[in-house]
Amino acid sequence: MLLDNLLDGRTAIVTGAAGRLGSEFSRALCLAGADVVLADTDLEGARKLEQSLSGIGSARAHRLDISDPASVRDLAEAVPDPDVLVNNAFFNPSIGQKEETKRLETFPLALWKEVIDVNLTGTFLCSQAIGGLMANNSGGSIINISSIYGMVGADQRIYGDSGLNSQPSYAATKGAILNMTRYMAAYWRGKNVRVNTLTLGGVLDRSYMRDEFIKNYSEKTILGRMADRTEYNGAVLFLASDASSYMTGSNLVIDGGWTAW
Ligand SMILES: NC(=O)c1ccc[n+]([C@@H]2O[C@H](COP(=O)([O-])OP(=O)(O)OC[C@H]3O[C@@H](n4cnc5c(N)ncnc54)[C@H](O)[C@@H]3O)[C@@H](O)[C@H]2O)c1
Repeated sequence: MLLDNLLDGRTAIVTGAAGRLGSEFSRALCLAGADVVLADTDLEGARKLEQSLSGIGSARAHRLDISDPASVRDLAEAVPDPDVLVNNAFFNPSIGQKEETKRLETFPLALWKEVIDVNLTGTFLCSQAIGGLMANNSGGSIINISSIYGMVGADQRIYGDSGLNSQPSYAATKGAILNMTRYMAAYWRGKNVRVNTLTLGGVLDRSYMRDEFIKNYSEKTILGRMADRTEYNGAVLFLASDASSYMTGSNLVIDGGWTAW
């Protein structure tokens, strides 16, 4: 594989590593030679992933709650010389949601705050701790995972009565990440800490998506389909490695053309 050894000798932290995309990012970073810290509240899931990666490279599970400052401090102590941080973890209350969460007018304040705490404050806390270490060491690359719904409003028409919906708190946090990225990139100028956003479109998952939703979503993209979960790995390797050495404070959008028309 062309990208073998791309990240040899680098240590990469992936938050939310046990999830759908986190596990893909972790596998790709591991294959490229990085020592990968699989950080998640779901320690069992992270351990399973650690086992599955044991044959291809170096990876270790670590329990992390990104919204808890003490837990983030533990991570910084456990990984004192990080090179890459993928801020990927997020709290997703949209599946199995209560009726009141489907309307802006009744969206519960407690849930709004919970989402902000994880998606935004958690991303801030991890960047603060791990970016600070990078700045004091030899630098590094922070990749903040956002969504098309951080760039444009969610088209509620595509959801029909499928029970899937996009939350206002999701949009607010994913949009905020774009400018937090620019702020941090500017702040760490001269420290060789590059900070970029990776904005993603929707990933096909037939385990909970209805055909009607998949069709509606696909029609909103230029490529006419949802993403496969592996289709963002190249971008993660690009941003994590020296291949993107002249890129900071930027937003790499991979969305099948959703935001282009
Ligand atoms: N899946 C998509 O279609 C899609 C589209 C656009 C953007 N994204 C973005 O990609 C990222 C990953 O999405 P996914 O679909 O893989 O999600 P997922 O729900 O499969 O995984 C999220 C992971 O985060 C972990 N997590 C939750 N709260 C945490 C906390 N406080 N501390 C540490 N870990 C925590 C969960 O245990 C889970 O393993 C998210 O940032 C999401 O916004 C996903």
